[in-house]
Amino acid sequence: MPLKDKVVVISGVGPGLGRSLAVRCAAAGADVVLAARTQKRLDEVAEEVTALGRRAVTVQTDITDEESCRNLLDTALDACGRVDGLVNNAFAIPPLTDLCDVDFDAIRASVETNVLAALRLTRLFAPALAEHGDGSVVMVNSAVLRHSRRTFGTYKMSKTALLSLAQSLATELGPRGVRVNTVAPGYIWADNLKFYFRHLAQERGITTRQVYEETAADIDLRRLPEPDEIADTVVFMLSPLARAVTGQCLDVNCGEFHH
Ligand SMILES: NC(=O)c1ccc[n+]([C@@H]2O[C@H](COP(=O)([O-])OP(=O)(O)OC[C@H]3O[C@@H](n4cnc5c(N)ncnc54)[C@H](OP(=O)(O)O)[C@@H]3O)[C@@H](O)[C@H]2O)c1
Repeated sequence: MPLKDKVVVISGVGPGLGRSLAVRCAAAGADVVLAARTQKRLDEVAEEVTALGRRAVTVQTDITDEESCRNLLDTALDACGRVDGLVNNAFAIPPLTDLCDVDFDAIRASVETNVLAALRLTRLFAPALAEHGDGSVVMVNSAVLRHSRRTFGTYKMSKTALLSLAQSLATELGPRGVRVNTVAPGYIWADNLKFYFRHLAQERGITTRQVYEETAADIDLRRLPEPDEIADTVVFMLSPLARAVTGQCLDVNCGEFHH
């Protein structure tokens, strides 16, 4: 139970990694505060958390809005009395368009959610995280850090800025006992990817399993990571097991890229 009786706030509780983060943090002993804009999903994930015997507080939040984020902080502290961990998981997928063509407003929107909102939340939660001298922040990044494929430029710009942000915050918050780390998943074998592979399989007249195996053939472990496997790395970073780890980025990709 590496997170026993800790309180972890998770931004961006969606059906993929966000859900897994909530469930795995709870399984590791934490109470969780769940933030996203869709209340129905928050309620569904909260049910899974309570089934594990931990507390889930849901707070409908738009992380691009300052007042909404302040409400998240106030509600978390009112309900739980402390905050030990913050996971910045929410993201906005920018248009997959070359940088030479993409609309500037689309770039701004992606930076707003993927970078500035993570900074806003971390700044707001920093005093609470520093209170017990062992707070931890985890930024969820992406393997887009490791390649420069066409059409991924806007996403890469925002996630690279998020990595820089995490490193600088680690330096700023370290003296207050708050660690700031990053996980960088590659493929995540969850609904979105399953849907995409089904689509590719139909286009090519092959099975989804064949698309999976072709993709996994170039990956060291010959398989794609499950969302719970990414979440468990985040649990490690939040926990005292990682008490000397800050300013680091850990790639969780079954060996697709080495870093
Ligand atoms: N999926 C992948 O294959 C993959 C690969 C590598 C890295 N990642 C990273 O992993 C993280 C999670 O990705 P995921 O696909 O698994 O997503 P997810 O956790 O299933 O969902 C993320 C959630 O973020 C929420 N969100 C977006 N904008 C928000 C806002 N302004 N305020 C509050 N919440 C907001 C959305 O919920 P609402 O609409 O309800 O607000 C969305 O459902 C992301 O940081 C992503 O970059 C994903």
